[in-house]
Amino acid sequence: MTDLILRGQTLRFEADPFNTPIEDAAVIETHGGILVRDGRIAQTGTGDDLCRAYPQARVIDHGDALITAGFVDAHMHYPQTAMIASWGKRLIDWLNTYTFPEEMQFADPCYADDIAGRTLDLALSNGTTTLTSFCTIHPTSVDAFFENAAARNMAVVAGKTCMDRNAPDGLRDTANSAYDDSKTLLEKWHRTGRATYAITPRFSPTSTPEQLAALGALWGEHPTALMQTHLSEQTDEIEWVKGLYPQARDYLDTYEAFGLLGERGLYGHAIHLTPREIDRLAEVNAAVVHCPTSNTFIGSGLFDMAGMKARGIRTGLATDTGGGSSFSMLRTMAATYEIGQLRGTALHPAHLMWLATEGSAQALHMKGEIGSLNVGAMADITVLDLASTTAIAQRSTRANDLWEALFPTLMMGDDRAITQVYVAGQAV
Ligand code: GUN
Ligand code: ZN
Repeated sequence: MTDLILRGQTLRFEADPFNTPIEDAAVIETHGGILVRDGRIAQTGTGDDLCRAYPQARVIDHGDALITAGFVDAHMHYPQTAMIASWGKRLIDWLNTYTFPEEMQFADPCYADDIAGRTLDLALSNGTTTLTSFCTIHPTSVDAFFENAAARNMAVVAGKTCMDRNAPDGLRDTANSAYDDSKTLLEKWHRTGRATYAITPRFSPTSTPEQLAALGALWGEHPTALMQTHLSEQTDEIEWVKGLYPQARDYLDTYEAFGLLGERGLYGHAIHLTPREIDRLAEVNAAVVHCPTSNTFIGSGLFDMAGMKARGIRTGLATDTGGGSSFSMLRTMAATYEIGQLRGTALHPAHLMWLATEGSAQALHMKGEIGSLNVGAMADITVLDLASTTAIAQRSTRANDLWEALFPTLMMGDDRAITQVYVAGQAV
């Protein structure tokens, strides 16, 4: 395949800006270039140098636009796409009123196929090249998601959502069927093309101890799989978990007791944690996932980003749609900044961009593969117009450096800022 050179401003990270000075962690080229070969990033530098070195390459010049790694959404629910922005409830009521009835419709494989395709296209139009999704209890909902992702050549993570209690008729499996179906799907999809399987107990309240134990055993048998769930999102949810698991030391212990705490575990929300839970997450090198638009929309609370990063806990960023109120990782970065401000920490645009790309990729154990413009990574790339609306343009023209030029897009931008998306080096 011919080489491709993308020209424009480029932003890539060589280190985590939370623990390396930003000027060392981030590499910015005002007249940059990215050489793409066989779907991967083969070289980076200035556009002029690359064009001189590879005169046969096809060149696409994005001008002043910013070329960045495609966004990586580390936690979302594709079955909730059609019910995003449902009004007025908190977590448990929201699940019972809006979410479970919608998820019931995924018994129909045609509906699942339609919503899976719709969700992946919405993600791409928002510059998101990787989604990490819960499916429903229906195995066909998992096939629909992975098949639609494969058709778009997208790297995705997903798994069958398991629930065997506290969910309506028609939306419960059993401990045995959850194990059997998850195993079949894992063996079918894990590491097939760009797919990664995540064993997916929804959260402790909707699984019996027997189901958590079965899924913990499955993870033990397939340790390269990821495991995704929810943790300590709302205070009344935590009280409910205490009643359901009286032996557990805390919410995290309900997972740990059944083999569901580990380095490849992804714990969504993780807002109201006890010191012991934070210690255990750090000790086992598990990942937490911040879902800021969801946490404000459902009224869950303020995630402690600075605290998690200070403890060295791997942290991804996510939309959590349809609890989250936007498909856009730009809106998600804006909410991350606002929650940081409410907690007394002003996150730098470098922190926000790193979290939305590298941070999420590291949470998913895909460092170097996705979420990066460094040599060797897959060429999943998003190009941002830093003057996509009149309001953003009039602010960014006054900027003195890239960070100042980018921040208005992070705070006010949406899908109009997405100029182009490449998946494995192919323009979408
Ligand atoms: N906790 C358990 N299930 C869900 C869900 O679908 N969305 C959110 N935000 N939290 C959950
Ligand atoms: Zn969720």
